Amino acid sequence: MRHDLKSGPLGKTGLSNAFDPNGLAAPTARLGESAPAPVKLDVRHVGFRFGDKPALHDISFSIYANRVTALIGPSGCGKSTLLRVFNRMADLYEDQHVEGQVLLDGEDILAPEVDVLTLRRRIGMVTQKPSPFPMSIYDNVAIGLRLNEELTKVQLDQRVEDALRRAALWEEVSGLLDHSALSLSGGQQQRLCLARTMAVHPEVILLDEPCSALDPISTARIEETIEELKSVSTLVIVTHNLQQAARIADYTAFLYLGELIEFGSSAQMFSAPREARTLAYISGRMG
Ligand SMILES: Nc1ncnc2c1ncn2[C@@H]1O[C@H](COP(=O)(O)OP(=O)(O)OP(=O)(O)O)[C@@H](O)[C@H]1O
Ligand SMILES: [Mg+2]
Repeated sequence: MRHDLKSGPLGKTGLSNAFDPNGLAAPTARLGESAPAPVKLDVRHVGFRFGDKPALHDISFSIYANRVTALIGPSGCGKSTLLRVFNRMADLYEDQHVEGQVLLDGEDILAPEVDVLTLRRRIGMVTQKPSPFPMSIYDNVAIGLRLNEELTKVQLDQRVEDALRRAALWEEVSGLLDHSALSLSGGQQQRLCLARTMAVHPEVILLDEPCSALDPISTARIEETIEELKSVSTLVIVTHNLQQAARIADYTAFLYLGELIEFGSSAQMFSAPREARTLAYISGRMG
């Protein structure tokens, strides 16, 4: 049920070669993975400024297809800023400046000619602060499907239900679909925004602390969904929960003060980090 996105400046589907400034080519993530996955997003020398204030410095690493990559680091280190680069959120603000390249299947998504709406269908994002639209619960999830696909009412209902189930929200809202999304609790709004993003089946899903307002049961269900989504999508998740990163992420990137300190398989990062600052952070001595 994927969109045909083969036209336009982002339409090619060839896979790029890994750019490997850190000498980390082809880290194998999980046990028994003998060959690395292809690169889905190749982050090359990305910098970011809010006006004169730098927030990211020369970030380069690869995000592998059909894998989960976690971004970790202390508050204010630039995790959300980096995630926002991947779907061009800075375009909405005059004083926010991005440099470098981010190749999606080999094509630079930061190039001016890129159609940002097409890009955001391919790379969906769930923001740190949930932002449901002021409309019904059903319409929040259906809106992207109505815009992008021609579905019958039965098909639409099915896709909405499927997305709400995957977001671990269906049981709480199945009788309230016509109620305003704004009447939901913070944790429910967070899961609704997750459902809204997942419903359109993006190739890449960016999740900014998707479990920050959730109880352990909902968190476990979202983690199961993330694991399931790997078969069809590439996932990037920001989390402050290091156990969560170790549990669900194949790869982890550690950011500190806007710099990428270390990138590697989660297995390596959490058992034998290469950098002293990574060790200080994951052992709770920093941040
Ligand atoms: N709109 C903005 N204008 C100016 N500076 C900003 C803005 N948004 C973020 N920053 C700054 O950019 C830096 C990175 O912020 P960012 O939100 O990416 O951090 P983060 O790692 O996601 O933190 P947290 O874990 O608290 O969510 C911080 O120093 C922050 O103060
Ligand atoms: Mg953040």
